[in-house]
Amino acid sequence: MNFYRNVNEDVIYVGACDRRTARFENMFSLPWGICYNSYLIIDGDKTCLMDGVDQSIAERYDRDVCQALNGRKLDYFVVQHVEPDHCATINNIMRQHPETKMIITQPGLKLMKQFYDIDYTERAIVAKDGLKLELNRHTLEFVLAPNVHWPEVMMTYDHFDKALYTADAFGSFKAQDGHLFVDQVDYRRDWLDEARRYYFNIVGKQGVHVQKLFQKLKKNNFEINMLLPLHGLVYRKREDVEMIFDLYDKWSSYTPEAKGVTLACGSMYNNTMEAMEYLANLLADRGVPNIRLYDISELDRSFVVSDLFRFSHAVFACPTYNTELFPEMDALLRDIIALNFSNRKIAILENKSWGGKAQKIAEEILDKGKNLDIIATATMTSTIHHHQLEILSDLADKIIADMSL
Ligand code: FEO
Repeated sequence: MNFYRNVNEDVIYVGACDRRTARFENMFSLPWGICYNSYLIIDGDKTCLMDGVDQSIAERYDRDVCQALNGRKLDYFVVQHVEPDHCATINNIMRQHPETKMIITQPGLKLMKQFYDIDYTERAIVAKDGLKLELNRHTLEFVLAPNVHWPEVMMTYDHFDKALYTADAFGSFKAQDGHLFVDQVDYRRDWLDEARRYYFNIVGKQGVHVQKLFQKLKKNNFEINMLLPLHGLVYRKREDVEMIFDLYDKWSSYTPEAKGVTLACGSMYNNTMEAMEYLANLLADRGVPNIRLYDISELDRSFVVSDLFRFSHAVFACPTYNTELFPEMDALLRDIIALNFSNRKIAILENKSWGGKAQKIAEEILDKGKNLDIIATATMTSTIHHHQLEILSDLADKIIADMSL
Protein backbone atom coordinates (compact mmCIF):
# COMPACT_ATOMS: atom_id res chain seq x y z
CA MET A 1 0.00 0.00 0.00
CA ASN A 2 1.23 3.49 -0.76
CA PHE A 3 -0.15 7.01 -0.71
CA TYR A 4 2.08 8.83 -3.18
CA ARG A 5 0.38 10.64 -6.04
CA ASN A 6 1.36 12.18 -9.32
CA VAL A 7 1.50 15.96 -9.54
CA ASN A 8 2.34 15.61 -13.21
CA GLU A 9 4.20 13.18 -15.43
CA ASP A 10 7.56 13.53 -13.64
CA VAL A 11 6.69 14.89 -10.21
CA ILE A 12 5.32 12.70 -7.43
CA TYR A 13 3.78 14.00 -4.22
CA VAL A 14 5.21 12.08 -1.26
CA GLY A 15 3.89 14.25 1.57
CA ALA A 16 1.19 13.32 4.06
CA CYS A 17 -1.28 14.75 6.54
CA ASP A 18 -1.14 14.87 10.31
CA ARG A 19 -4.50 15.08 12.08
CA ARG A 20 -3.19 14.14 15.52
CA THR A 21 -0.84 16.99 16.43
CA ALA A 22 -2.82 19.53 18.45
CA ARG A 23 -0.56 22.55 17.98
CA PHE A 24 1.86 23.54 15.25
CA GLU A 25 5.20 24.59 16.78
CA ASN A 26 3.47 23.74 20.06
CA MET A 27 1.64 27.07 19.75
CA PHE A 28 -0.90 27.31 16.94
CA SER A 29 -3.96 25.10 17.21
CA LEU A 30 -4.68 22.75 14.33
CA PRO A 31 -8.42 21.97 14.40
CA TRP A 32 -8.23 20.73 10.81
CA GLY A 33 -4.75 19.20 10.97
CA ILE A 34 -1.83 20.05 8.73
CA CYS A 35 0.10 18.43 5.92
CA TYR A 36 3.81 18.24 5.28
CA ASN A 37 4.60 18.24 1.59
CA SER A 38 7.51 16.71 -0.21
CA TYR A 39 7.97 16.05 -3.91
CA LEU A 40 10.01 13.50 -5.82
CA ILE A 41 11.11 14.40 -9.35
CA ILE A 42 11.82 11.39 -11.52
CA ASP A 43 13.33 12.69 -14.73
CA GLY A 44 14.61 9.87 -16.91
CA ASP A 45 17.56 8.35 -15.09
CA LYS A 46 17.81 11.22 -12.60
CA THR A 47 15.92 11.50 -9.33
CA CYS A 48 15.61 14.43 -6.98
CA LEU A 49 13.69 14.70 -3.72
CA MET A 50 12.42 18.13 -2.73
CA ASP A 51 12.46 18.49 1.09
CA GLY A 52 11.66 16.16 3.94
CA VAL A 53 8.71 16.01 6.33
CA ASP A 54 7.85 16.04 10.01
CA GLN A 55 8.59 13.16 12.37
CA SER A 56 4.84 12.57 12.81
CA ILE A 57 4.56 11.11 9.29
CA ALA A 58 8.07 9.69 9.03
CA GLU A 59 7.16 6.06 8.61
CA ARG A 60 4.74 6.64 5.77
CA TYR A 61 7.13 9.06 4.11
CA ASP A 62 9.98 6.55 4.13
CA ARG A 63 7.72 3.89 2.65
CA ASP A 64 6.25 6.17 -0.02
CA VAL A 65 9.63 7.55 -1.10
CA CYS A 66 11.04 4.04 -1.26
CA GLN A 67 8.09 2.72 -3.31
CA ALA A 68 8.01 5.74 -5.60
CA LEU A 69 11.73 5.36 -6.30
CA ASN A 70 11.00 1.72 -7.15
CA GLY A 71 14.60 0.58 -6.87
CA ARG A 72 16.17 3.70 -8.44
CA LYS A 73 18.99 5.55 -6.74
CA LEU A 74 18.26 8.93 -5.23
CA ASP A 75 20.65 11.37 -6.88
CA TYR A 76 19.73 14.61 -5.13
CA PHE A 77 17.98 15.76 -1.99
CA VAL A 78 17.11 19.46 -2.11
CA VAL A 79 16.73 20.87 1.40
CA GLN A 80 15.07 24.25 1.09
CA HIS A 81 14.32 24.83 4.77
CA VAL A 82 15.83 23.29 7.89
CA GLU A 83 12.98 23.65 10.38
CA PRO A 84 12.31 20.27 12.02
CA ASP A 85 8.81 19.99 10.53
CA HIS A 86 10.62 19.32 7.24
CA CYS A 87 13.96 17.93 8.32
CA ALA A 88 13.28 15.38 11.00
CA THR A 89 13.28 12.67 8.33
CA ILE A 90 16.26 13.77 6.25
CA ASN A 91 18.85 11.76 8.11
CA ASN A 92 16.97 8.51 7.48
CA ILE A 93 16.85 9.17 3.76
CA MET A 94 20.51 10.19 3.64
CA ARG A 95 21.47 7.01 5.52
CA GLN A 96 19.41 4.81 3.20
CA HIS A 97 20.92 6.47 0.11
CA PRO A 98 24.65 6.95 0.63
CA GLU A 99 24.99 8.08 -3.01
CA THR A 100 22.68 11.09 -2.55
CA LYS A 101 24.02 14.62 -2.79
CA MET A 102 22.29 17.24 -0.67
CA ILE A 103 21.60 20.66 -2.20
CA ILE A 104 21.39 23.15 0.64
CA THR A 105 22.44 26.70 1.51
CA GLN A 106 25.50 27.35 3.66
CA PRO A 107 23.37 28.55 6.61
CA GLY A 108 21.21 25.45 6.10
CA LEU A 109 24.26 23.19 6.51
CA LYS A 110 25.08 24.94 9.77
CA LEU A 111 21.52 24.49 11.06
CA MET A 112 21.52 20.79 10.10
CA LYS A 113 24.58 20.37 12.30
CA GLN A 114 23.00 22.35 15.13
CA PHE A 115 19.74 20.40 15.09
CA TYR A 116 20.99 16.92 14.23
CA ASP A 117 24.70 16.96 15.01
CA ILE A 118 25.50 15.72 11.51
CA ASP A 119 27.89 17.54 9.22
CA TYR A 120 26.75 17.05 5.60
CA THR A 121 29.50 19.24 4.12
CA GLU A 122 31.14 16.31 2.32
CA ARG A 123 27.88 15.33 0.66
CA ALA A 124 26.60 18.84 -0.02
CA ILE A 125 26.35 21.03 -3.06
CA VAL A 126 26.05 24.50 -1.57
CA ALA A 127 23.21 26.39 -3.23
CA LYS A 128 23.71 29.97 -4.32
CA ASP A 129 21.44 32.31 -6.21
CA GLY A 130 21.34 31.25 -9.82
CA LEU A 131 23.02 27.85 -9.33
CA LYS A 132 21.47 25.39 -11.76
CA LEU A 133 21.08 21.66 -11.46
CA GLU A 134 20.50 19.84 -14.74
CA LEU A 135 18.50 16.66 -14.42
CA ASN A 136 17.35 15.63 -17.88
CA ARG A 137 14.52 17.75 -19.21
CA HIS A 138 14.12 19.48 -15.83
CA THR A 139 16.62 22.21 -14.96
CA LEU A 140 16.37 23.37 -11.38
CA GLU A 141 17.54 26.88 -10.50
CA PHE A 142 17.99 27.84 -6.87
CA VAL A 143 16.68 31.11 -5.53
CA LEU A 144 17.79 32.16 -2.07
CA ALA A 145 14.87 33.50 -0.04
CA PRO A 146 16.44 34.41 3.32
CA ASN A 147 13.93 35.08 6.08
CA VAL A 148 10.90 34.00 4.11
CA HIS A 149 10.51 32.28 7.31
CA TRP A 150 14.05 31.30 8.43
CA PRO A 151 17.40 32.75 7.30
CA GLU A 152 18.55 29.63 5.43
CA VAL A 153 15.44 29.34 3.24
CA MET A 154 15.73 28.91 -0.49
CA MET A 155 13.28 28.17 -3.26
CA THR A 156 13.74 26.24 -6.47
CA TYR A 157 12.53 27.12 -9.95
CA ASP A 158 11.98 24.26 -12.36
CA HIS A 159 12.44 25.68 -15.87
CA PHE A 160 10.72 22.70 -17.51
CA ASP A 161 7.51 22.79 -15.47
CA LYS A 162 7.67 26.57 -14.94
CA ALA A 163 7.13 25.66 -11.32
CA LEU A 164 8.41 27.23 -8.13
CA TYR A 165 9.05 25.06 -5.10
CA THR A 166 8.41 27.62 -2.39
CA ALA A 167 9.41 26.19 1.02
CA ASP A 168 6.93 27.46 3.64
CA ALA A 169 5.65 30.38 1.57
CA PHE A 170 2.19 30.02 0.04
CA GLY A 171 1.47 27.17 2.46
CA SER A 172 -1.43 26.73 4.81
CA PHE A 173 -2.61 25.09 7.96
CA LYS A 174 -5.22 22.34 7.34
CA ALA A 175 -4.84 18.79 6.17
CA GLN A 176 -5.88 17.85 2.66
CA ASP A 177 -9.25 16.17 2.19
CA GLY A 178 -8.16 14.04 -0.73
CA HIS A 179 -7.76 16.92 -3.15
CA LEU A 180 -4.16 17.93 -3.74
CA PHE A 181 -4.68 20.94 -6.02
CA VAL A 182 -6.14 24.38 -5.36
CA ASP A 183 -8.31 24.16 -8.48
CA GLN A 184 -10.05 21.06 -7.11
CA VAL A 185 -11.48 22.81 -4.03
CA ASP A 186 -13.47 25.89 -3.15
CA TYR A 187 -10.30 27.60 -1.99
CA ARG A 188 -11.83 30.88 -0.83
CA ARG A 189 -14.50 29.08 1.17
CA ASP A 190 -12.50 26.19 2.59
CA TRP A 191 -8.81 27.12 2.61
CA LEU A 192 -8.16 30.85 2.49
CA ASP A 193 -8.77 31.50 6.19
CA GLU A 194 -6.24 28.84 7.13
CA ALA A 195 -3.73 30.08 4.53
CA ARG A 196 -4.05 33.58 5.97
CA ARG A 197 -3.75 32.38 9.57
CA TYR A 198 -0.67 30.42 8.59
CA TYR A 199 0.88 33.39 6.76
CA PHE A 200 0.40 36.01 9.44
CA ASN A 201 1.41 33.82 12.35
CA ILE A 202 4.30 31.99 10.71
CA VAL A 203 5.70 34.26 7.99
CA GLY A 204 3.92 37.55 8.76
CA LYS A 205 6.81 39.25 10.52
CA GLN A 206 8.90 38.91 7.37
CA GLY A 207 6.87 41.08 4.99
CA VAL A 208 9.90 43.00 3.77
CA HIS A 209 11.62 39.74 2.82
CA VAL A 210 8.52 38.49 0.99
CA GLN A 211 8.55 41.73 -0.98
CA LYS A 212 12.25 41.20 -1.78
CA LEU A 213 11.42 37.72 -3.01
CA PHE A 214 8.79 39.11 -5.39
CA GLN A 215 11.36 41.58 -6.72
CA LYS A 216 13.88 38.79 -7.23
CA LEU A 217 11.38 36.57 -9.06
CA LYS A 218 10.47 39.49 -11.29
CA LYS A 219 14.12 40.30 -11.99
CA ASN A 220 14.74 36.68 -12.96
CA ASN A 221 11.81 36.89 -15.33
CA PHE A 222 10.51 33.52 -14.23
CA GLU A 223 7.22 32.50 -15.77
CA ILE A 224 5.49 30.77 -12.87
CA ASN A 225 2.56 28.48 -13.58
CA MET A 226 2.83 26.25 -10.51
CA LEU A 227 3.64 26.69 -6.84
CA LEU A 228 4.60 23.70 -4.72
CA PRO A 229 4.68 24.69 -1.05
CA LEU A 230 5.66 22.61 1.96
CA HIS A 231 2.19 22.80 3.53
CA GLY A 232 -1.31 22.94 2.07
CA LEU A 233 -2.29 22.48 -1.57
CA VAL A 234 -0.43 22.68 -4.87
CA TYR A 235 -1.21 25.61 -7.19
CA ARG A 236 -1.09 24.31 -10.75
CA LYS A 237 -3.15 26.91 -12.62
CA ARG A 238 -1.87 30.31 -13.57
CA GLU A 239 -4.97 32.07 -12.21
CA ASP A 240 -4.50 30.39 -8.81
CA VAL A 241 -0.84 31.43 -8.74
CA GLU A 242 -1.89 35.00 -9.51
CA MET A 243 -4.60 34.88 -6.83
CA ILE A 244 -2.19 33.89 -4.04
CA PHE A 245 0.58 36.22 -5.33
CA ASP A 246 -1.90 39.13 -5.13
CA LEU A 247 -2.84 38.20 -1.59
CA TYR A 248 0.80 37.77 -0.54
CA ASP A 249 1.64 41.14 -2.03
CA LYS A 250 -1.09 42.71 0.08
CA TRP A 251 -0.29 40.73 3.19
CA SER A 252 3.46 41.31 3.02
CA SER A 253 3.00 45.06 2.53
CA TYR A 254 0.63 45.11 5.53
CA THR A 255 -2.19 46.45 3.39
CA PRO A 256 -5.65 45.58 4.76
CA GLU A 257 -7.39 42.99 2.64
CA ALA A 258 -10.82 44.54 3.24
CA LYS A 259 -12.66 47.24 5.14
CA GLY A 260 -13.86 45.81 8.39
CA VAL A 261 -13.45 45.75 12.15
CA THR A 262 -11.92 43.11 14.38
CA LEU A 263 -13.09 43.53 17.96
CA ALA A 264 -10.62 41.80 20.27
CA CYS A 265 -12.09 41.60 23.73
CA GLY A 266 -10.77 40.54 27.10
CA SER A 267 -13.53 40.06 29.64
CA MET A 268 -13.56 38.52 33.12
CA TYR A 269 -17.27 38.75 33.98
CA ASN A 270 -18.72 39.38 30.51
CA ASN A 271 -19.19 43.11 31.21
CA THR A 272 -16.56 44.27 28.74
CA MET A 273 -17.88 41.68 26.28
CA GLU A 274 -21.39 43.07 26.58
CA ALA A 275 -20.07 46.50 25.70
CA MET A 276 -18.31 45.03 22.67
CA GLU A 277 -21.45 43.20 21.59
CA TYR A 278 -23.35 46.48 21.77
CA LEU A 279 -20.64 48.22 19.74
CA ALA A 280 -20.65 45.39 17.18
CA ASN A 281 -24.40 45.84 16.77
CA LEU A 282 -23.99 49.58 16.26
CA LEU A 283 -21.32 49.00 13.62
CA ALA A 284 -23.41 46.37 11.85
CA ASP A 285 -26.53 48.56 11.86
CA ARG A 286 -24.54 51.33 10.27
CA GLY A 287 -23.28 49.23 7.40
CA VAL A 288 -19.80 48.01 8.38
CA PRO A 289 -19.32 45.08 6.01
CA ASN A 290 -16.99 42.79 7.98
CA ILE A 291 -17.09 42.45 11.75
CA ARG A 292 -15.36 39.81 13.87
CA LEU A 293 -15.83 39.79 17.64
CA TYR A 294 -13.42 37.59 19.61
CA ASP A 295 -13.17 36.66 23.26
CA ILE A 296 -9.39 36.51 23.35
CA SER A 297 -9.34 34.27 26.43
CA GLU A 298 -11.34 31.56 24.70
CA LEU A 299 -9.87 31.20 21.27
CA ASP A 300 -6.37 30.38 20.13
CA ARG A 301 -4.77 33.77 19.62
CA SER A 302 -3.62 32.94 16.10
CA PHE A 303 -7.20 33.27 14.78
CA VAL A 304 -7.52 36.77 16.24
CA VAL A 305 -4.11 37.75 14.87
CA SER A 306 -5.17 36.64 11.41
CA ASP A 307 -8.28 38.83 11.35
CA LEU A 308 -6.48 41.79 12.90
CA PHE A 309 -4.14 41.73 9.90
CA ARG A 310 -7.02 41.08 7.52
CA PHE A 311 -9.22 44.08 8.21
CA SER A 312 -8.68 47.83 8.20
CA HIS A 313 -9.83 48.60 11.75
CA ALA A 314 -9.40 47.07 15.19
CA VAL A 315 -10.98 47.64 18.56
CA PHE A 316 -9.12 46.41 21.63
CA ALA A 317 -11.31 46.06 24.70
CA CYS A 318 -8.91 46.16 27.61
CA PRO A 319 -9.96 45.28 31.15
CA THR A 320 -7.73 46.23 34.02
CA TYR A 321 -6.17 43.37 35.98
CA ASN A 322 -3.98 43.88 39.04
CA THR A 323 -4.00 47.56 38.01
CA GLU A 324 -2.27 46.53 34.77
CA LEU A 325 -3.55 45.37 31.40
CA PHE A 326 -5.54 42.09 31.29
CA PRO A 327 -2.75 39.52 30.65
CA GLU A 328 -4.30 37.91 27.55
CA MET A 329 -4.69 41.33 25.95
CA ASP A 330 -1.14 42.24 26.91
CA ALA A 331 0.09 39.05 25.20
CA LEU A 332 -2.03 39.64 22.08
CA LEU A 333 -0.81 43.21 21.62
CA ARG A 334 2.84 42.24 22.11
CA ASP A 335 2.37 39.36 19.68
CA ILE A 336 0.96 41.49 16.86
CA ILE A 337 3.63 44.14 17.32
CA ALA A 338 6.30 41.42 17.10
CA LEU A 339 4.60 40.35 13.85
CA ASN A 340 4.88 43.91 12.47
CA PHE A 341 1.23 44.91 12.79
CA SER A 342 1.10 48.15 10.79
CA ASN A 343 -1.11 50.50 8.79
CA ARG A 344 -4.28 50.01 10.81
CA LYS A 345 -6.82 52.25 12.53
CA ILE A 346 -7.42 51.43 16.15
CA ALA A 347 -9.89 52.16 18.93
CA ILE A 348 -9.27 51.26 22.56
CA LEU A 349 -11.96 50.69 25.16
CA GLU A 350 -10.51 50.47 28.66
CA ASN A 351 -12.49 49.03 31.54
CA LYS A 352 -11.45 49.90 35.07
CA SER A 353 -13.38 49.74 38.31
CA TRP A 354 -11.18 51.81 40.63
CA GLY A 355 -7.96 52.71 38.80
CA GLY A 356 -5.11 51.18 36.89
CA LYS A 357 -3.35 51.79 33.63
CA ALA A 358 -4.70 49.26 31.10
CA GLN A 359 -5.14 51.85 28.37
CA LYS A 360 -1.75 53.44 28.99
CA ILE A 361 -0.03 50.05 28.71
CA ALA A 362 -2.00 49.18 25.56
CA GLU A 363 -1.00 52.49 23.98
CA GLU A 364 2.64 52.03 24.95
CA ILE A 365 2.72 48.60 23.30
CA LEU A 366 0.92 49.78 20.16
CA ASP A 367 3.20 52.80 19.94
CA LYS A 368 5.98 50.40 18.86
CA GLY A 369 4.01 49.50 15.71
CA LYS A 370 4.38 51.28 12.39
CA ASN A 371 1.62 53.58 11.21
CA LEU A 372 -0.92 52.52 13.82
CA ASP A 373 -3.39 55.33 14.19
CA ILE A 374 -5.41 55.39 17.42
CA ILE A 375 -8.59 57.09 16.24
CA ALA A 376 -10.63 56.74 19.44
CA THR A 377 -10.25 55.84 23.10
CA ALA A 378 -12.84 55.48 25.81
CA THR A 379 -13.09 54.31 29.40
CA MET A 380 -15.94 52.37 30.95
CA THR A 381 -16.24 51.64 34.64
CA SER A 382 -17.14 48.04 35.46
CA THR A 383 -20.29 47.78 33.36
CA ILE A 384 -21.98 49.81 30.69
CA HIS A 385 -25.17 51.35 32.07
CA HIS A 386 -27.90 52.95 30.07
CA HIS A 387 -26.60 56.47 30.67
CA GLN A 388 -23.11 55.48 29.45
CA LEU A 389 -24.16 54.17 26.07
CA GLU A 390 -22.93 57.35 24.43
CA ILE A 391 -19.39 56.07 25.09
CA LEU A 392 -20.07 53.28 22.63
CA SER A 393 -21.96 55.34 20.09
CA ASP A 394 -19.10 57.82 20.13
CA LEU A 395 -16.65 54.98 19.40
CA ALA A 396 -18.91 53.74 16.60
CA ASP A 397 -19.18 57.29 15.15
CA LYS A 398 -15.42 57.67 15.02
CA ILE A 399 -14.86 54.25 13.43
CA ILE A 400 -17.60 54.77 10.84
CA ALA A 401 -16.34 58.25 9.99
CA ASP A 402 -12.84 56.90 9.51
CA MET A 403 -13.99 54.03 7.30
CA SER A 404 -15.66 56.40 4.82
CA LEU A 405 -18.37 53.90 4.04
FE1 FEO B 1 7.01 24.44 7.82
FE2 FEO B 1 9.20 26.93 8.77
O1 FEO B 1 8.51 25.20 8.66
